[in-house]
Amino acid sequence: MFSKLDIQHQIPLEPYGDIYTQFGINTPNGFSGIAYHHISSDIQDQIFNTCPWAPRSAFNALLMVINRMHIPPHNDDGIKVSINLYIDTADAVTTFHRNKKSTAAGYMKLPNQTNGSIYNAEDLEPVAQFKAQSGEIYVLDVTSLHSVDCGTSNIRTAYVIQSPFFSYDQTMESYKKYYDL
Ligand SMILES: [Fe+2]
Repeated sequence: MFSKLDIQHQIPLEPYGDIYTQFGINTPNGFSGIAYHHISSDIQDQIFNTCPWAPRSAFNALLMVINRMHIPPHNDDGIKVSINLYIDTADAVTTFHRNKKSTAAGYMKLPNQTNGSIYNAEDLEPVAQFKAQSGEIYVLDVTSLHSVDCGTSNIRTAYVIQSPFFSYDQTMESYKKYYDL
């Protein structure tokens, strides 16, 4: 479901680039949810230098910005795996869930979600959790249902490299092979 890698990063936060895509709602106070921003080629180079086992041709590098305390259980849209290089974690806990019932959980979709959906927490039970620290790097199987609960009102930021092609298992195999683990 997820792995914490034995490597760290020190890539600084750069000013937000244009929005690549975002998932959330518009409120009187502006957008609330997860936004993915384009990043400079210099930062992209630093990310792929840090994670050389992730082939550039198969992964998209972005900045993830979460400005909402709670992100409900969901699977990610259009991607199978996300490698997260945390910057400000907002003391957040990420929880993975599974369906309590054998039938599909009730869900809703935001207007721009395709194969991603939001699930009803009452239909689910937690199976694993982690709390990342700034500088840490995690690999997440984002086809599994997961939610995020921030512990502070800070904006949560991470550089992410995501793939619609590589699965979580393929990504971890590639990482282990590179370091001969
Ligand atoms: Fe997600």
